[in-house]
Amino acid sequence: MIDSFTQIYGVFGNPARHSKSPFIHNFAFQYYHINAVYLAFEPDEIAKSLEAMRALNIKGASITLPFKETVMAYLDRIDEDAEAVGAVNTIVNKGGMLHGFNTDYKAAVEPLKPFGIQGKKVCIVGAGGAAQAVAYGIYKEKGRLVITNRNEKRGKILAEKYKADFFSLDDIDSLLKIQPDILINTTSVGMSPNISDLCFPLDYLSPKTLVMDIIYTPLKTRLLHGAQLKGCRIIDGLTMFLNQGAQQFKLWTGINPDIELMRKIMLKDKNL
Ligand code: ATR
Repeated sequence: MIDSFTQIYGVFGNPARHSKSPFIHNFAFQYYHINAVYLAFEPDEIAKSLEAMRALNIKGASITLPFKETVMAYLDRIDEDAEAVGAVNTIVNKGGMLHGFNTDYKAAVEPLKPFGIQGKKVCIVGAGGAAQAVAYGIYKEKGRLVITNRNEKRGKILAEKYKADFFSLDDIDSLLKIQPDILINTTSVGMSPNISDLCFPLDYLSPKTLVMDIIYTPLKTRLLHGAQLKGCRIIDGLTMFLNQGAQQFKLWTGINPDIELMRKIMLKDKNL
């Protein structure tokens, strides 16, 4: 029940209305009997939103596009991993002090840990904001990083940061030679409504490759569908989304939410 003690959390992004975060966090607050509500805010800029967080005692926030980098200038403290990634996606309000964290990088590596990351050749497709977080996570877990991207300059900058190899997505001969143990798509290629688009040639994957996508609309992208037909193990984008949300929930409440339960609840949502 919402009353005068209800604590406020929310996502700050623009756009933010499409976000599935209110759905999972409000479910979790209810499920764990926490008197809190999670809303969506669509500000034009982020500085005043943080003033509002302090003034209204908003307890925590998810930060999404386009504010993940700009928000960093207005925080009181930034966790060292978020600093290294160069982006904040989570804020915890500790008595008016706003602390920034990044749960995206952990969300990418947690589902891969059971398969082992250390020493594995991990190919990241893309070099944007999502790729930055995923690359940091893999680097931290001592995977052997390979970056491939359409825009060479952007790709090379990311590769240099983590001493990784780089191949252009146009360099078909080199792509064939990568033969990664793990392939992770961090681009928007294949996202609804362009579901027939493919970010990496399926012929260049072996059945031994573990293929992960960060897209969750559709749940089974063309990349994952094709990889599965080849016999590859796959991890869908909902897994990463739920992991980043679960780690935010832990930072705010101290509770490790049941990710499998949250997955079931989200799959019942007909928008997925
Ligand atoms: P995000 O922060 O969500 O990662 P972004 O910073 O815009 O978003 O990055 C998007 C990534 O998807 C980039 O690597 C982009 O490639 P470029 O650097 O070449 O622009 C990649 N991307 C988007 N559309 C693409 C397409 N049609 N083909 C190949 N790569 C694409």
